[in-house]
Amino acid sequence: MSASHDQYALGRSPQEYARLARQAEIMKPMTERLFADAGIRAGMTVLDLGSGAGDVAMLLAEMVGPGGSVFGLDLDHGAMQHAQERAIAARFHNVKFVHSDFAHYHPDAPLDAIVGRLVLMYQADPAAALAKLRKHLRPGAVVAFLEPWFQPPPGPDSTLKTTVTCLVETLRRSGAHLDLGPRLHRVFEAAGLPLPKMRFEAIVDGRDDSPLYQYVADTMASLLPKALEYGVPGADKLDIPSIPDLIRAEMNAVGYAMFVAPMVCAWCRTPS
Ligand SMILES: C[S@@+](CC[C@H](N)C(=O)[O-])C[C@H]1O[C@@H](n2cnc3c(N)ncnc32)[C@H](O)[C@@H]1O
Repeated sequence: MSASHDQYALGRSPQEYARLARQAEIMKPMTERLFADAGIRAGMTVLDLGSGAGDVAMLLAEMVGPGGSVFGLDLDHGAMQHAQERAIAARFHNVKFVHSDFAHYHPDAPLDAIVGRLVLMYQADPAAALAKLRKHLRPGAVVAFLEPWFQPPPGPDSTLKTTVTCLVETLRRSGAHLDLGPRLHRVFEAAGLPLPKMRFEAIVDGRDDSPLYQYVADTMASLLPKALEYGVPGADKLDIPSIPDLIRAEMNAVGYAMFVAPMVCAWCRTPS
């Protein structure tokens, strides 16, 4: 089990699974681009690490088609039940969710790809975790990950700054690697993989009714119990329901589009 299991700051609740599904909609385009560029193709057998509510695995299930198969792993039993129910409701017959720490997972057959989104950042030693799984890959297999580059925002005090500072500090105190994105090439190398191609992406949305305002508030809501437990400064003063409107007004006042989730995508193929 990863050292950070007990400290996983986002919690495990129906609200958090719903937040993951909404986050997945926001991140779907960049995730799909990564998998297409990395070489995910019809017929492949793919392992998705830390599947959560199952959205990455279901996106992969579409990409590999009926001739392929996807295994989604998570150490959260409730999440895996929820994800499997969603996959059945969406009529995906090629995806299976398994309750397992990926550190202890042994697939029945060699894999064509291992992928993950926002998951290596929660491992005590991301490279060691990936190195263990590397031996299950076929020659010429795909490895592709999206991990963040979270930073407290600069600039004058604002609701956005207070909220994101609280969010980042809570994750940092939980042991998550907040700047894993720009370090992914080192993680791949240390895991014995080729140097990956890398791309930096973020989500920017100038619509007044952008879901990004609510997304920031929802993420803080999931983190709030841990923020209070850790005594993160300012957490006890946050009024979560008011956050979306306050941030929207702040962004409008400075004429900025809302932007979130600076992420680094990294991908490689193992030698064939
Ligand atoms: C932020 S969520 C991301 C979920 C999903 N990848 C997505 O992008 O929608 C991270 C997930 O990784 C899982 N996780 C973290 N470490 C894990 C491990 N060692 N083995 C299996 N699952 C793990 C957590 O339980 C959580 O559900």
